[in-house]
Amino acid sequence: MPWSIKHPERFAPGRKFLQSATGRWLARWQQRASQAAQPAGEEAFLLRLSLNHLFTGTCLESSTNYMSSVCDHCLKNLSISAEPQCVYSIFKRLGAELVLGLFLNVRAEDQPEVFQEIIELCTEHWHGLNSIPVNVKVPWWTSGFAKALDARSKLMEIIKDKLKNETQGFVGALGSVPFPNSGSAAQHLLLFISALIPKALASLLTSFTLALGGPEQRESRHEAIRNPDHLHRVLLEVQRLWPPFIGGRRITEKESTLADFCVPKDYDVMYLSYFIHRDPEVFQQPDSFLPERWSGRNAGQEHLLCSFGNGPRSCIGSTLTEIFIKEACRYLLKNYDWCLDPPSQDLQYKWLPVSRPANLPSLSFTRLDQTVLE
Ligand code: HEM
Repeated sequence: MPWSIKHPERFAPGRKFLQSATGRWLARWQQRASQAAQPAGEEAFLLRLSLNHLFTGTCLESSTNYMSSVCDHCLKNLSISAEPQCVYSIFKRLGAELVLGLFLNVRAEDQPEVFQEIIELCTEHWHGLNSIPVNVKVPWWTSGFAKALDARSKLMEIIKDKLKNETQGFVGALGSVPFPNSGSAAQHLLLFISALIPKALASLLTSFTLALGGPEQRESRHEAIRNPDHLHRVLLEVQRLWPPFIGGRRITEKESTLADFCVPKDYDVMYLSYFIHRDPEVFQQPDSFLPERWSGRNAGQEHLLCSFGNGPRSCIGSTLTEIFIKEACRYLLKNYDWCLDPPSQDLQYKWLPVSRPANLPSLSFTRLDQTVLE
């Protein structure tokens, strides 16, 4: 089943069918087991409308200073140690500082203990969610799932306290959103601060540093500082080849025909971004990193990407993510040269829960002479 795919590239025989047959929607279906806790239909639509303004316009603009300060705080020391750096872990920390500062007003620099406590709870919550759902507590052992439930209730307490007492920032603004019930705002904040978002941000930034690392990419790095369009194209290509999440799902509202297959009502249809993004009919040399394709043959085809979902239920944090990722990339490009250290490493990707090399890569950073850059 798709969620257990470790090496999507090995599924080449199915790939052709999946790419062409569904017109970009790659499918697996199974009888719907549950609709989980996600709001559906009109409720989801209204909720998106209400939340949307918090992720755009002036709300977003007011976050840009914080984004710069987080980049500075987390990335300023990359070249200080003589040792190579494990970039994925550094970028995950960067992502965690971003989400906790933006969504809960908890800034690592101001409240290191509270920050650390929340990070640990989020990690425990996340690990437990992926464990067998058995809620067992005996004197000498507590199941991972039971720990996750405990972590969740502690997180909910912290979040509810913030919702009650904070007037500033995102958590303050959430008070004005007309949620369907009193627990909704806290539920959403729990999702926004979940461990998965820092992982996704770290996935993109790791793939970016790997794609633009080494002396052979020096010119591309310089061009990315000089020309925002080049940086934009590089990042499109990064998300095309290494989408942080492998895909998503939709549930059919009525019986439909998809690629000559009848999909009954209430079945899941899953799409796999990896295959969609490497469809050779759309992307020539699909496995090659070619940022210039976005100003050539694939110009104006950004809408074919689905790293952030697609359509009416696409990611509401995509603009925020784009702004933040560009800020972090510009910081790296302006301040450092970098390369794999050691030069030969196993960069085979794994895809779950987010895409990244299975063995965490290490890179060395050298600070750039700012006078030369100017
Ligand atoms: C690199 C970062 C991120 C990636 C790759 C990402 C990816 C995605 C994807 C693929 C979906 C659609 C899933 C589907 O097909 O149903 C999605 C939905 C969503 N994302 Fe993100 N996301 C990111 C960051 C964020 C951030 C920072 C937030 C805001 C806190 C956010 C909030 C949401 C929400 C609320 C939805 C559900 C939308 C709905 O169901 O109507 N995401 N995201």
